[in-house]
Amino acid sequence: AILSRRIMPAATSSSDVNIWAIVPAAGCGSRMRSATPKQYLDLSGRPVIEHTLAALFAVPRITGIVVAVADGDVTWPNIAGCFSDRRLEQVSGGAERCHSVLNALEYLCATASGRDWVLVHDAARPCVQPADIDRLIDTCMRNTDGGLLGMPVSDTMKRVDTKGNVTATVDRTDLWHALTPQMFRAGQLLEALRQGIRAGKTLTDEASAMEAAGYAPRMVEGRRDNIKITVASDLQLAGFYLQRQHA
Ligand code: CTP
Ligand code: MG
Repeated sequence: AILSRRIMPAATSSSDVNIWAIVPAAGCGSRMRSATPKQYLDLSGRPVIEHTLAALFAVPRITGIVVAVADGDVTWPNIAGCFSDRRLEQVSGGAERCHSVLNALEYLCATASGRDWVLVHDAARPCVQPADIDRLIDTCMRNTDGGLLGMPVSDTMKRVDTKGNVTATVDRTDLWHALTPQMFRAGQLLEALRQGIRAGKTLTDEASAMEAAGYAPRMVEGRRDNIKITVASDLQLAGFYLQRQHA
């Protein structure tokens, strides 16, 4: 049985396309108020981004990882050296997250097939679990428009005016937090990002570019500990989550 499994892998329908990961890591982390960009801050003894890359490397179906880093970043080369894995490559980041992702995608699409899948995952989300990534991949491969990890909103939601006064309570029953990874066909995402950027849209995630291009990405419920490190206290929380995951 083992032998037949070894010589039969090409029989699965999904084996003709590759799955790539793009990790935008070119931000400066202004909300963190730290001189060191947040992706390089210490989290349980390793830089944040090392945890993030380790989680992606733990998914064998991912063929390669492209990291977008800021020009002149002197920290990244030391970290890249720690991953002697051949599946890791880098490109220059851009002015905003969407430009960093676009740069990485253009780099990938120069050689990859447009039908290949690409997972975009924030460097600042080190607590993502390989099991969640696998579930997202399985779901998206059955859904041509791709999808993303998310979680339902649990708090009561308010709309607030510029003076800080509440103007409305927003029904939360159909509201979700958008997390990453977000997974789409490389060619479709490339076209959607180019269109969105050309139209001057504010694109804070890939799904918004796909939505604007007429696609309906699938929402896949993910773990609530897949937080994005944004402010200083998030680091402590992420440390606690990682410790619990590894316990
Ligand atoms: N990012 C990027 N290129 C940019 C801006 C952001 O690759 N020009 C990356 C960040 O490094 C991060 C991810 O996108 O991993 C999510 O963005 P965010 O949390 O907003 O990070 P920063 O932009 O660095 O933080 P801030 O908005 O507080 O400045
Ligand atoms: Mg930002």
